[in-house]
Amino acid sequence: MNDALSNQDALKKSGAEHVFMHSAPYGALAHDAAKKILVEGDGIWVTDVDGNRYIDALAGLWLVNVGHGRAEIGEAIGRQASSLAYASSTAATTIPAIQLAALAPGDQNTAFFCSGGSEAIESAIKIARQYHYHRGQPKRQKIIGRRGSYHGGTYAAMSVSGTRPTSDPYHSPFMPGVLHASPPSCYRCDFRATFPACDLLCADQIGQMIAYENPETVAAVIAEPISASNGIVVPPEGYWPRLREICDTHGVLLITDEVINGFGRTGRMFASEHFGVAGDLLTMAKGLTSGYVPMGGVMCRPHVVEAFADENTLSHLLTYGGHPVAAAAALANLDIIEREDLVGNAERMGARLLAGLEDLRAKHPNVGDVRGLGLIAGLEVVRDRDTREKFDEKGPELKALSDGLRNRGLLTRAGTILNLCPPLCITADEVDQIVDIVDGALSDLEAASG
Ligand SMILES: Cc1ncc(COP(=O)(O)O)c(C=O)c1O
Repeated sequence: MNDALSNQDALKKSGAEHVFMHSAPYGALAHDAAKKILVEGDGIWVTDVDGNRYIDALAGLWLVNVGHGRAEIGEAIGRQASSLAYASSTAATTIPAIQLAALAPGDQNTAFFCSGGSEAIESAIKIARQYHYHRGQPKRQKIIGRRGSYHGGTYAAMSVSGTRPTSDPYHSPFMPGVLHASPPSCYRCDFRATFPACDLLCADQIGQMIAYENPETVAAVIAEPISASNGIVVPPEGYWPRLREICDTHGVLLITDEVINGFGRTGRMFASEHFGVAGDLLTMAKGLTSGYVPMGGVMCRPHVVEAFADENTLSHLLTYGGHPVAAAAALANLDIIEREDLVGNAERMGARLLAGLEDLRAKHPNVGDVRGLGLIAGLEVVRDRDTREKFDEKGPELKALSDGLRNRGLLTRAGTILNLCPPLCITADEVDQIVDIVDGALSDLEAASG
């Protein structure tokens, strides 16, 4: 390292000047206490350049499922990089890529590999559209997403995401032919209805949209089984089977975006399993390698890939698709998940976390709702529990909440929704520490709101 940068302040200054951080103002590292220079990690813990230890309660960015510091993944990466670091994604494949593809769930058993979640979404959309073309329905181009969902930062992924208010001012026009339906959010229902009396209006709305648009112009519906970005929205019972039925009725492909939900996060290997539904295409990334190296993919069911037989070459190529080093990391990661029963641990520790958060709801009047499944949980804070009025996102109350978490040694994203998504190797004692910290930070919020 350059000697001039060995000093911590110099490092921060240099980082602020030269590293363009994602989704942040330029230079934020220098003045925003929430931005860190991290140097090492172990399990659910990370240490910053000043030697402070934090609980990584968002598993990085919803992905370090096996936890930090797993030397065996590093060794698998090293072994593969020193024997064959790369093979052309179009002229060859490799043993780790074949082994990884063979681990697919159910009949979603052909993998298109890529380098991350956004690429997985772009790929799924292109596969879906080309699938319809080869089946004699070239007008099936439209994609239906849902408001509040997030599917990535590249153009098609951003376009199908339900994040128009934050992206429109800078990035429109978006990809044409994209529609957005209501989310299955019972706490803040677009229809001001109540489950089960609503009879799943939110799912039926998607059927109505497809019918109105003319089914023969709709390629796919895309949705996360549990939407993290929309505030950890766990859909009501029956939503997913209804959505599956609607897509089948209209010949529309269903893309289940398991980028965050997959690889044990919800207490099942894939969240779709909770709902007894399989997408025609499943997008994955994040927990596939627990973030040790970038990798994503699309798992396709047989009827999808069979449309690409003979002359029907897939018109889509990514240089790093099926990267052998990433595949080797994924195999080592999946081995840990299985050997340590991290899926079962996510179910058990998730139940403990949700019970702890429910206790906080009983104690703190500003907790409006607690939601989650497995080790992905959201606590929604409100100014008034009866009216569900939100706090101002930039006001002193939510600042007190996020400062309170950080000052007590917990890193996560906290605004109206306090997100908790720790590594799946978490222990019962560590879950209790998280709940205690949230308890303290909620008291800070209360003090700030008078
Ligand atoms: C559900 C979902 N899909 C796709 C993506 C995009 O993944 P990436 O950031 O790896 O491109 C994300 C990112 O957070 C996500 O949450």
